[in-house]
Amino acid sequence: MYERAASIVREAEVFIITAGAGMGVDSGLPDFRGDHGFWKAYPAYDRLGLSFAECATPMHFINDPHFAWGFYGHRTNLYRDTIPHEGFHIIKKWVERNNADYFVVTSNVDGQFQKAGYDEERICEVHGSIHWLQCQARCNNKIWRNEETFRIDETAMRASDPLPRCIVCGTVCRPNILMFDDYAWLQERTLAQNHAFDHFLKENSGRNIAVIEMGAGKAIPTIRKASERIGQNFKHATVIRINPREPGISSPHISLTSGAVEGLKHIDWLL
Ligand SMILES: NC(=O)c1ccc[n+]([C@@H]2O[C@H](COP(=O)([O-])OP(=O)(O)OC[C@H]3O[C@@H](n4cnc5c(N)ncnc54)[C@H](O)[C@@H]3O)[C@@H](O)[C@H]2O)c1
Ligand SMILES: [Zn+2]
Repeated sequence: MYERAASIVREAEVFIITAGAGMGVDSGLPDFRGDHGFWKAYPAYDRLGLSFAECATPMHFINDPHFAWGFYGHRTNLYRDTIPHEGFHIIKKWVERNNADYFVVTSNVDGQFQKAGYDEERICEVHGSIHWLQCQARCNNKIWRNEETFRIDETAMRASDPLPRCIVCGTVCRPNILMFDDYAWLQERTLAQNHAFDHFLKENSGRNIAVIEMGAGKAIPTIRKASERIGQNFKHATVIRINPREPGISSPHISLTSGAVEGLKHIDWLL
């Protein structure tokens, strides 16, 4: 399988990199696999008996904004402090080696691809980004950079004042992320990224495409489905799915049962 993966990488004229939360695991970030995975990363929510879906809702920004920003402020700090692992650089090296084009499609909100030097114009963040903010009341359509600093009491997972505020109406604002039961997410930034990606696909439809999927789980299968759709719709596209616990994809696509760094290094070694 690794030999086949290496030959697909060798032949690729286009790389489409699709990534879920597991992509961050080798950088030391938690994925949110099941309630227990989430509670292991955030023991405070275990004590409070709250699941990921119960924490990640816009309701808290209205009812208890210190609690809401406890979760999102902590994650903002964590993602800012994280150094993207070697795997990000291995794929960039392949792009350069083949003189290829690329695009990233991710459900991660953590901004790790930008941090690893990927071009902001070639990234689609399907669930938005924690590094951008919007009004929780949708008093306007603005989406602006998250340049706030956060102090979090990690025992209670509550943020201290001052909390970030809407640049127009002054109410506590929220990250520009699609949450659960979320009717207020402003999609404009993601829609523009989607549009750029559609255009990219049209331009590259006849070329050899390697879809490298990493860390995309089955629970919210947005990214897995996106990879599979590209694999089905484009004649010269092959998906390489890298996932240690939830591998599996039908032929001619390839599945590697390993972590992202381990899988990418193994392919790289064969090139
Ligand atoms: N970093 C982030 O931005 C972040 C983190 C957690 C959750 N989320 C959000 O929560 C949702 C979670 O869905 P999901 O499918 O992305 O994550 P998930 O937590 O449901 O699944 C993670 C997947 O990564 C795999 N994995 C574990 N370790 C890995 C490794 N070392 N290398 C490669 N893969 C590994 C697991 O087997 C699993 O299939 C998404 O919608 C996302 O927006 C984002
Ligand atoms: Zn406002």
